[in-house]
Amino acid sequence: MKHQLPLVRTLLATNRIQSTISAISRSTTLPSSLTPSRIRTMSSSETVSFLDAVKARRSFVAINKTSPIPDDRVISIIQDTIKHSPSAFNVQSCRALILFGAEHEKFWDIAAKKTKDSVPEAVFAGLEPKIKGHRDSYGSVLFFEDTEAVKKLPPQFQGVFSQYPEWYAHAQGMNQFVAWTALTAEGLGCSLQHYKPNAEVLAEWKLPQSWVLHAQLVFGTPTGPPRGGEKVFPSLEDKVLVRGA
Ligand SMILES: Cc1cc2nc3c(=O)[nH]c(=O)nc-3n(C[C@H](O)[C@H](O)[C@H](O)COP(=O)(O)O)c2cc1C
Repeated sequence: MKHQLPLVRTLLATNRIQSTISAISRSTTLPSSLTPSRIRTMSSSETVSFLDAVKARRSFVAINKTSPIPDDRVISIIQDTIKHSPSAFNVQSCRALILFGAEHEKFWDIAAKKTKDSVPEAVFAGLEPKIKGHRDSYGSVLFFEDTEAVKKLPPQFQGVFSQYPEWYAHAQGMNQFVAWTALTAEGLGCSLQHYKPNAEVLAEWKLPQSWVLHAQLVFGTPTGPPRGGEKVFPSLEDKVLVRGA
């Protein structure tokens, strides 16, 4: 808890979640989106403002093998991510495999072996401790692209995807960002990694051959500050331009 993001720590400390639930429970008419079962599952990623959650997201590599939230909550967040993130022509081609415990460790053993076999020894020596750190975390979400998904679209839309293959990457990034931001708002520390033992992963977890592994979101309870410490932000003057306001 010591190194949890100030935002999340404050929210937990002030019991805002609990008081929100209590206030809603006292109210006689519930908004249609707040059914009793939904209220029971409410927690910080549902009460933190979107932009506060965006500001709080960082890369945490100093994380341990515990989680401040139950596995079910992680699963539900990733389900929401995959269900609601946008995609070009609504192709919905992003897929996720959530790994906990021994399954998560198995992935990082596979990634270590694949990396060792495919990079020079000196490069692997630098990567090995990082891979061990990921293995010593609580879990991983593996993000894939399902190359079959586009074939379900009408032919004219399928053609457009061959002209703009970057749309797959844009949608991947959106899914990864939603998951990263939401898990952080729940008190988890996460980092985004890009190891590609595709064939080994498909075989190990018996996944469809049409899935292609793109990234891993590693998560656990933070044991230190985000990587790189406080972030320095250059002036936005040249980055965000406005005309006509
Ligand atoms: C598309 C993309 C790819 C990234 N790949 C990696 C990666 O392979 N390994 C890693 O440790 N971090 C990776 N990162 C994290 C960035 O290094 C990090 O977001 C950046 O340095 C800013 O730090 P912050 O996440 O703490 O805000 C990636 C981020 C993005 C958006």
